[in-house]
Amino acid sequence: MLQQSLFMLKLKPSDLNLEVLEMLTFFYSVYLKFMPNPQQLVLILYDFYGGSRQMYRHYSLEKHQELVAVHTDNFAKLSKKARENPVDESNELLVDESLGEYAKGAAIFSQYCTACHKEKEVLVGPPIAEMAEIYINNETALIDWIREPGKKREDFPQMPGFPQLSDEELQELSKYIIK
Ligand code: HEC
Repeated sequence: MLQQSLFMLKLKPSDLNLEVLEMLTFFYSVYLKFMPNPQQLVLILYDFYGGSRQMYRHYSLEKHQELVAVHTDNFAKLSKKARENPVDESNELLVDESLGEYAKGAAIFSQYCTACHKEKEVLVGPPIAEMAEIYINNETALIDWIREPGKKREDFPQMPGFPQLSDEELQELSKYIIK
C-alpha cells in the first residue's frame, strides 16, 4: 500500500523522510478515512523498507510507463519539497567511536531499531534492558530473533525481520544489546 502510494506520487524510496511521512499520513486519512497511529505508521514504513529492493527494480523497468498522479495541491507541493531534499541514499552509518567496541552495534541499532526500541522504556517493542535480560547467555537466539522474529507478546504488534543484515552486523548488534 505504501509502495503504491509512493509510486503514485512519483517518489523513490530514497525520498522517504518526515515530509513524505506527513504526506502519506494525509494520504491515508483522506483515502482510507483513517489516521494511522504512530505505531501503525512505523510498521507500514518497515513493511515498505522490506520491499524497497523490488521497488527499485520496478522503477528502472517502468520508468517510461505513464503513472497515475494524485492531483492534490498539497501532495504536489509536499512531494516536490521531498524531491528537492532527498534523504542520503548511501545508508552510511553514523558511528560514534567514543563507544569503543560497541560503537558499530550502537550505530546499527540507532539506524534500524530505535524507531521501536528505547534503552529502558517500552516504545513499540520492549526496551534494550529487557532484551539483554532475555538473551544474556544466548547470543545466537538473539541473532535468530532479529533476523526472523517470532510472535511473543500478546499486546505488542509483530516485529519486522531484518534478513538484510549481515552476520557481522548482527553480531555487532547483539554485542551492543547484551552489553
Ligand atoms: C517496527 C517496530 C520494530 C522495529 C523497527 C524493531 N523491533 Fe524489535 N520488537 C518489536 C516488537 C513489537 C517486539 C515485541 C514482539 C513480540 O513480543 O511478539 C519486538 C521485540 C524485540 C526483541 C525481544 C525478543 C524476545 O525474545 O522477547 C528483541 C531482542 C528485538 N525486538 C530486537 C530488535 C532489534 C535488534 C531491532 C533492530 C535491528 C528491532 N528489534 C527493530 C518491534 C520492532
